[in-house]
Amino acid sequence: MTSKENVKIAIIDFGGQYTHLIARRIRKLGIYSEIYQPENFHLNKEPNVVGIIFSGGPKSITDNQYKIQFDIRELKVPLLGICYGHQLISALLGGRVLRGKSREYGLTTIHCETKSALFNGLSQEQKVWMSHYDYIEALPEGFRITASSNLTKIVAYESQDRKIFGMQFHPEVTHTINGMAMLNKFISICTNIRPWNSEDYKDVIIDKIRKGVGNKKVFLFLSGGVDSTVSLMLCIKAIGNENVFPIYIDTGFMRENETFEIKNRFEKLGVKNLKIINAGKLFLQKLKWIVNPEQKRKIIGQLFIKILNKELLKMKTSNNWMLVQGTIYPDTIESGDSKNSTKIKTHHNRVFEIEKLIKQGKVIEPLKELYKDEVRELGKSLGLPEELLQRHPFPGPGLAIRIIASDTDKPETSYNQDEHYLNDILKPYKFQAMILPIKSVGVQGDTRTYNHPALIWSNEHRKPNWDTLRECANKIVNQLNSVNRVLFSLEKLNGELRLRRCYLNKKQIDLLRKVDAIVWKYVYSIKEIWQMPVVSIPLFDDKGRQVFVIRPVCSKDGMTADFYQMDFALLEKIIEELKTIRELGNLCYDITTKPPGTIEWE
Ligand code: XMP
Repeated sequence: MTSKENVKIAIIDFGGQYTHLIARRIRKLGIYSEIYQPENFHLNKEPNVVGIIFSGGPKSITDNQYKIQFDIRELKVPLLGICYGHQLISALLGGRVLRGKSREYGLTTIHCETKSALFNGLSQEQKVWMSHYDYIEALPEGFRITASSNLTKIVAYESQDRKIFGMQFHPEVTHTINGMAMLNKFISICTNIRPWNSEDYKDVIIDKIRKGVGNKKVFLFLSGGVDSTVSLMLCIKAIGNENVFPIYIDTGFMRENETFEIKNRFEKLGVKNLKIINAGKLFLQKLKWIVNPEQKRKIIGQLFIKILNKELLKMKTSNNWMLVQGTIYPDTIESGDSKNSTKIKTHHNRVFEIEKLIKQGKVIEPLKELYKDEVRELGKSLGLPEELLQRHPFPGPGLAIRIIASDTDKPETSYNQDEHYLNDILKPYKFQAMILPIKSVGVQGDTRTYNHPALIWSNEHRKPNWDTLRECANKIVNQLNSVNRVLFSLEKLNGELRLRRCYLNKKQIDLLRKVDAIVWKYVYSIKEIWQMPVVSIPLFDDKGRQVFVIRPVCSKDGMTADFYQMDFALLEKIIEELKTIRELGNLCYDITTKPPGTIEWE
């Protein structure tokens, strides 16, 4: 362990949505932080912990009180409770927590005691983000109220003698305007040093890899993206180029020229043992008739492991190997990995076969705690070139999850009723609309949805306004149960769109690759676009031309995203060039935020 890690804040996770964000904020404030499950945190075994934070959580104190493995009456380090954590501390020390009569969600103004430890120097009125139902009715002895809102008397409390603090709101979310300042004050009570900066993570991770790997060989699936590249370079630093065996699998679902570029890139970076495996035929054979997105993802993950096993046999490594994966935090939370989160989609590095290896202790995931922007920072500190670090994320399953397949040409009718409401919603606007007979994945209320997109278009020549489109998209998704995504057709719809049987075959992949490459040429230099999937859907116009969708999004970490508002003049240029592809019909623009839509369609 490095000295930078010797001072740390422990975050006890009670299943809050933002637990991970707390850890990230604390690291940003210059202190290493680690998340622990309540049953696994034993304070007497953690000499480096200088402060503890109790997270929020979905359960009610009144019917479920988590057990913690230490007595907070005996605590020698400062403690901060947030939301559920704030209530739990109070309950554990003899205060009274009750079921709420009304909920307090979202932005709230609170009145703070400006002489209190965590609000001093801030103005009396603070805008904070609330999300609670239960509340503290009476504080334990020796504590005093330090903030209140119109609805809640005990919004924050403190005992400066015991260095224990509580906040009903969430200082870790950006909507709490001075949240960082408040957390900063808590950290100052814990320690007067700030040894951590994101670059230091590099040393910690390298150390962890070295210890975790020992004298084994390391295999690593390299996609050429930021996460796997940063993981690779960390491994090379940790155990040397000769002991690291990156495997790049060309699944046949890569973008144009990708394999060639990757080969060049890693040669330039001096990577020694890169193995390129052309497995296009195998992937295509196994995926050819698959329509269900989760099934696609599972097959892809399984094939990765099958190929790894073959390589292991060839190299006669017996059991003397480890697999390193570039998994980042959103991959795990969306795969339902955190104890209390639900599955949105199975990321390719979280399929059953990999889970099995993880249980056997064969997998190291050095970036598991980080978000994409943190990985990019880490890559920068490793000296990786900017053009590589700023590459758009590309999912492990590649174009396979951007080709929406269909094994029927008979549209469902279950959403007919909603189609009627759809037209009602759009009455004030000059748009036409329909619900499409296909489905895509969404994330609503923290759970997965698999529902229909609505398509809207205008018969007028005037360019629509993005704000109006956004307003329509919000209304549609909020009001129609069968819709989780909204598209805008960039051209008038001529005639009906027909659902056709459509599968993952070479012709379809080649077509998507072609469209993707053209669009990409126009948008790659737009910095605001974080990622831009191009998706083919199994709908065809009356000339037999297929509908495609572009999904440019702005995001910081992929957890939430907004659609990018592209200049219509640029879109016209793109459409003009796409007209050279005769199989291509209408181009649609995905105007869904995340939530309710995920970035990828499947
Ligand atoms: P969603 O579609 O869930 O995606 O909003 C969030 C981010 O994750 C990427 N993604 C993946 N990355 N393996 C990956 O390495 C996967 O299986 C996978 N699925 C989605 C997606 O492209 C976006 O950047």
